[in-house]
Amino acid sequence: MIVLGVLASGNGSNLQAIIDNIKSGKLDAKLGCIISDNPDAFALKRAKESGVPAYYINPGSHKTYLETERELEYMKCLQEHKVELICLAGFMRILHSDFLRTFKDRIINIHPALLPSFPGLHAQRQAFEYGAKITGATVHFIDEGVDTGPIIIQRAVEVDDNDTAEKLAQRILKVEHQIYSEAIQLFAEGRLKKTGRKVEITNSD
Ligand code: GAR
Repeated sequence: MIVLGVLASGNGSNLQAIIDNIKSGKLDAKLGCIISDNPDAFALKRAKESGVPAYYINPGSHKTYLETERELEYMKCLQEHKVELICLAGFMRILHSDFLRTFKDRIINIHPALLPSFPGLHAQRQAFEYGAKITGATVHFIDEGVDTGPIIIQRAVEVDDNDTAEKLAQRILKVEHQIYSEAIQLFAEGRLKKTGRKVEITNSD
């Protein structure tokens, strides 16, 4: 059974969906540990309530990335818990190449838009304000860029005429909760074949 490590900065509803899908047997995985860069993240409470080891690790003073010394602590924690796949779930920091090298092809992220459209922060609002008719959610591998890694799963969400950015974000979040666990399960089954930017989903045996 694959061991997951989840990095989350905030509410942790994606983490909760993973926890629930493991409990219901939809996802054949085990949570090794949860780490947050925010001591008040609700994600930490969710993890503790489910009996998963949960840690706040100080990210250092920079706002957008983990400072090098701190990043080493994150890596140590993930390794101590024998994490095989790292899932970024609303983790709002960029990871450096040392981290990426250590966990090569074993870090995935959920993003609330159809990449490569609307990368970065507030993707749902970006799509809404741009006037997009269709947006959605993407699960992708992490690479050196921001939201640029090879795409694993995408699912579309239509923008309604009477939408608000908030209503749209809620519908996208529901889709995120589905596709993140689907992508993790495919990874766990060894069904993701990555060639350059392309990720092929192979048939199960
Ligand atoms: C989710 O919508 C996730 O896609 C987004 O943060 C939210 C976290 O919600 N991540 C990004 O925007 C990353 N670029 P959650 O804490 O309830 O899972």
